[in-house]
Amino acid sequence: MLYLIGLGLAYPEDITVRGLNAVKKCSRVYLEHYTSILMNSTQEELETFYEKKVTLADREMVESGCEEIMADADKLDVAFLVVGDVFGATTHTDLVLRCKQRNIPVEVIHNASIMNAAGACGLQLYNFGQTISMVFFTDSWKPDSWYDKVLENRKIGLHTLVLLDIKVKEPNLESMARGRIVYEPPRYMSIAQCCKQLLEVEETRSLEAYTPNTPCVAISRLGSNKQKFKSGTIKELSEYDSGEPLHSLVILGRQVHELELEYLLEFTDNKESFIKNVKADQEYFKPAPWVPPNQDDDC
Ligand SMILES: C[S@@+](CC[C@H](N)C(=O)[O-])C[C@H]1O[C@@H](n2cnc3c(N)ncnc32)[C@H](O)[C@@H]1O
Repeated sequence: MLYLIGLGLAYPEDITVRGLNAVKKCSRVYLEHYTSILMNSTQEELETFYEKKVTLADREMVESGCEEIMADADKLDVAFLVVGDVFGATTHTDLVLRCKQRNIPVEVIHNASIMNAAGACGLQLYNFGQTISMVFFTDSWKPDSWYDKVLENRKIGLHTLVLLDIKVKEPNLESMARGRIVYEPPRYMSIAQCCKQLLEVEETRSLEAYTPNTPCVAISRLGSNKQKFKSGTIKELSEYDSGEPLHSLVILGRQVHELELEYLLEFTDNKESFIKNVKADQEYFKPAPWVPPNQDDDC
């Protein structure tokens, strides 16, 4: 059996009892190590907690065939651990499909994910639209397909969860060109960088999906002992020091409920200005009033 096990957000003990029981009986244990990190634990601490060796599975191992992970999983129990929930990242359905093609039985053991725990900022999960990922821009590569999704969400009044890029084990391109593999130190996008990139793309696309004064909430290290929220406009948060990773951002939708607003006010430096910006933003994106079709027009 290949067990795909969610670890939850931060601590070794966040694994579920069913997940832990499965890990304990596995012959090999892999920890997926490129879409997220377990903030309150190291690989060694996990090994002590499980009383098992844990092998780090980088992007190359998982995405180029997963052969090592699947080897003998039709005869032995193997665990593939994912920080958060197994399906909180888009990549792991591929592993399940490959197992199905080879008749390897798969069992998924779920856990909390940033995709649901983000509700801790006070915004209702039911009012969220499409989630987007913000990648690190380079001088020549500034992907902005996410902009259309923010626009769609904002047009129908929904909040947008923005997941921020992390680069845990990226090869240095110059060394690679010289035939040597050298890895860059890990990099984690900050809230300020994400907001600066949002502003940069609004400048070029100019469809007014949002403005510098659009209200947001920054979610840092959720579920850890250093969890922190900060409400402010995109412009304000582009100057915010969000500290250690991990971070996510929520761009507010137009339909902010009064209880959502009350919750967010706990996290702002200036309540009056935040309320003013929320109200102005709601007006700005108000849709045209719905007009019933004129029956005569149909004839
Ligand atoms: C590709 S997602 C993987 C999500 C993970 N599998 C899950 O279900 O939570 C990784 C991104 O989610 C966000 N994220 C994950 N855990 C977080 C946390 N505890 N606090 C804030 N953001 C988090 C960060 O933006 C991070 O770069």
